[in-house]
Amino acid sequence: MNPVEWNAVDSYLTGTLLVPDPTLDEVRKANAAGGLPAIDVAPNQGKMLMLFVRMIGATSVLEIGTLGAYSTIWLARGLATGGRVITLEADPHHAEVARGNLALAGVSDKVEIRLGAALDSLPALASEGHGPFDLVFIDADKVNNGRYLSWALRLTRPGSVIVADNVVRQGKIIAPDNRSEDVTGTRELLELLATDPRIDSTAIQTVGSKGWDGFALGLVTG
Ligand code: SAH
Ligand code: DHB
Ligand code: MG
Repeated sequence: MNPVEWNAVDSYLTGTLLVPDPTLDEVRKANAAGGLPAIDVAPNQGKMLMLFVRMIGATSVLEIGTLGAYSTIWLARGLATGGRVITLEADPHHAEVARGNLALAGVSDKVEIRLGAALDSLPALASEGHGPFDLVFIDADKVNNGRYLSWALRLTRPGSVIVADNVVRQGKIIAPDNRSEDVTGTRELLELLATDPRIDSTAIQTVGSKGWDGFALGLVTG
């Protein structure tokens, strides 16, 4: 197998299982027009997030790392009636593009974008009494992944689900001499998943339109 085949299989799966979605095409176009990097989740991964939200009947979702709100829209679409997503974004331009995209998708009323560094917004959410969130999606700067998981554990309850994106990074996660920001924080996150008694977890490698990467999935247990 090679990346060309991964891409073709991703197109096949997405074409077979996902309904064509002109709104999400517009969202990707708006992201490109706004100069945002094309690092949003793949369509089939976005749909998986939406299904996770539905599976647990989530009404409160926290996302760390909005970009143009592509993943946010999927999360919002999965919410049970009256549900809300809070999404954290440090870059004002990304947040502005995201606001436009949330409006395009008709989910503005279900989503609050909090502008600022997530490590400032997370303690603010806690002190304002937000949470427990039913699902947390961690997908911002990877260097802080361990800290984001610690906050996610503080802001959830037994039964909550935590998903972290980009835990494989083309295999860099296991390269012993790789100490890049890409993977050091993610190693801390995986270590914490392994050792913290409050969560049980696994991680899955993925190939496809986003290359070789993966995600971690945890169930908060205590
Ligand atoms: N979840 C999005 C992709 C997010 S890309 C999707 O799948 O559609 C990562 C985002 O995290 C970028 O928009 C980046 O600006 C933001 N980010 C980076 N560092 C951050 C920080 N310290 N706090 C909050 N957001 C941050
Ligand atoms: C990058 C970030 C992501 O969240 C992702 O899914 C892919 C790439 C990046 O920063 O390169
Ligand atoms: Mg990601």
